[in-house]
Amino acid sequence: MYRTHTCGDLRLENVGQEVILSGWMQTKRDFGGMTFIDIRDRYGLTQLVFDMEDDQDLCSRARKLGREFVVQIKGTVRERSNKNPNMPTGNVEIEVGEMTILNKSKLPPFTIEDETDGGDELRMTYRYLDLRRKPVQNNIIFRSNVAIATREYLSKEGFIEVETPVLIKSTPEGARDFVVPSRMNKGQFYALPQSPQTFKQLLMVAGLDKYFQIVKCFRDEDLRADRQPEFTQIDCEMAFVTQEEILNTFEGLTKYLFKTCKGIEFNGDFPRMTYDEALRLYGSDKPDTRFGMLFHELNDVAKNKGFKVFDSVELVVGICAPGAASYTRKQLDALVKWVQRPQIGAKGLVYVKCNQDGTFKSTVDKFFDQEALKSWADKMGAKPGDLMLVMAGEVDRARKQLNELRLHLGRELGLMKEGDFKPLWVVDFPLLEWDEDTERFHAMHHPFTSPKKNDIERMLSGDHETMKALRADAYDLVINGSEIGGGSIRIHDRALQSRNFDLLGFTKEEAEAQFGFLLGAFEYGAPPHGGLAFGFDRLVTIMSGQESIRDFIAFPKNNQGRDMMIDAPSPVDQEQLDELGLDLVEE
Ligand code: AMO
Repeated sequence: MYRTHTCGDLRLENVGQEVILSGWMQTKRDFGGMTFIDIRDRYGLTQLVFDMEDDQDLCSRARKLGREFVVQIKGTVRERSNKNPNMPTGNVEIEVGEMTILNKSKLPPFTIEDETDGGDELRMTYRYLDLRRKPVQNNIIFRSNVAIATREYLSKEGFIEVETPVLIKSTPEGARDFVVPSRMNKGQFYALPQSPQTFKQLLMVAGLDKYFQIVKCFRDEDLRADRQPEFTQIDCEMAFVTQEEILNTFEGLTKYLFKTCKGIEFNGDFPRMTYDEALRLYGSDKPDTRFGMLFHELNDVAKNKGFKVFDSVELVVGICAPGAASYTRKQLDALVKWVQRPQIGAKGLVYVKCNQDGTFKSTVDKFFDQEALKSWADKMGAKPGDLMLVMAGEVDRARKQLNELRLHLGRELGLMKEGDFKPLWVVDFPLLEWDEDTERFHAMHHPFTSPKKNDIERMLSGDHETMKALRADAYDLVINGSEIGGGSIRIHDRALQSRNFDLLGFTKEEAEAQFGFLLGAFEYGAPPHGGLAFGFDRLVTIMSGQESIRDFIAFPKNNQGRDMMIDAPSPVDQEQLDELGLDLVEE
């Protein structure tokens, strides 16, 4: 028997008991005749005491233990004279009688403590050591709790968990595919699923009615704090459903997860906002609604007043930062510089201070008198002490840039409060998105998304401008400005699906070659269906009030898509290449 208790178990009521514990040596403190050691496992830390007077040999051995040695001890629980209220086991200690070293450890390359001295890359190379640290373990345990609660909720709702294949044909979700060469079919490749989209639809055709899967997805795209090349979805699909029923089901799931895993209850329904409204009011389809600073369009009060910068653009739009009129000249210059960085790319930023005496001081005083600036303030609801910030440009770009500024200010002014969770459904996404560069339509969500019922006729026969205006039964769940999930009602009719492929620029032959299996299935009684997928890594990260999904993935990749620990990707033998019929070309 390696242990009678874990290192997190023992309390005052165990005093006097003989126990066996196993764990890693965390810290050691020598005080002449006494040596104190904390041993650690997943459940906590327990203090061990070795007394020179009781057993000289044992105490000398204890003194020689190195950090991260794995030990097993037998001893008696006793009350601590010097109690530690910060440790759940802090009222007791173990008077050790026997000790076995189960394994030695090299000196770890960084300290295994809550605050470590190891840099990112080093910790990723020794991820198994990083995972020993309490905050990282807590993240992984939290992730497990959310996964278990998800299964509880969805199975209670009648969903069944079905696995779908990983070696498949491309599923277009907007990223590049990872491809896998086939040895048995030389010159041919599998694609790893960007999501199980087509399979879950086929499961609906198959009559399984309610499907879910906690599933790995693979996308070869540029990485960010909220993106990994392989990530996990809570993927779901339902037959004979309306958008309303899907939103209710997954709002229910979200509430259940927050309640069971965080003890947080939401009052009432999650708010809903159309895509158009989200862009107009926040300049983003994933607005952070924890704070206000909504957009105000100022064309009618700011254009055609002789200020060329405004007169020549599509949109003049501003936000009002509460209390920020106190910003110094230096701070304001820094804001202007901030929006002019290449990542944001704005030409400039107009600001107007609303002074306490009701007057205004702006960077455009030459063009706008006090009365004009007052009309801006009235539009924006700006009060004395506030700061109005105004940007101008082509609609999409001005909105995007002002959105970045709004989020930056939200952070700077401390408006994103810890522990505040603001979920929001964004609905009525456009069906198609026109790409000026390639002069093609792209599916805004994915090619299987259905237009709204009222738009089907227009989609079948409309012109280019009509296509741009089509709306889809597509929705995203956004929490605190992060896109947690997205889904749609699907097309279940072959002719409509063919028309969509056609609009997306697929020839008949290409559509048939890539998606013939799905189009074929639609000819055998496909039920109306729809679904959604939550980004599981993002969900647990946001629920924990953090930003980097990496911290919630046991073995994540770095920003170059590398697994530092196993050193992947890496070259393969010539023999393997030959078997696969592949030749490498020198770059
Ligand atoms: P979508 O492409 O919107 O929809 O993906 C669903 C959710 O997955 C998360 N996500 C990611 N998380 C981490 N790293 C990534 N690279 C990454 N890419 C996406 C996001 C996103 O909201 N098949 C559809 C779902 C459906 O229509 O049912 C789909 O995959 O949180």
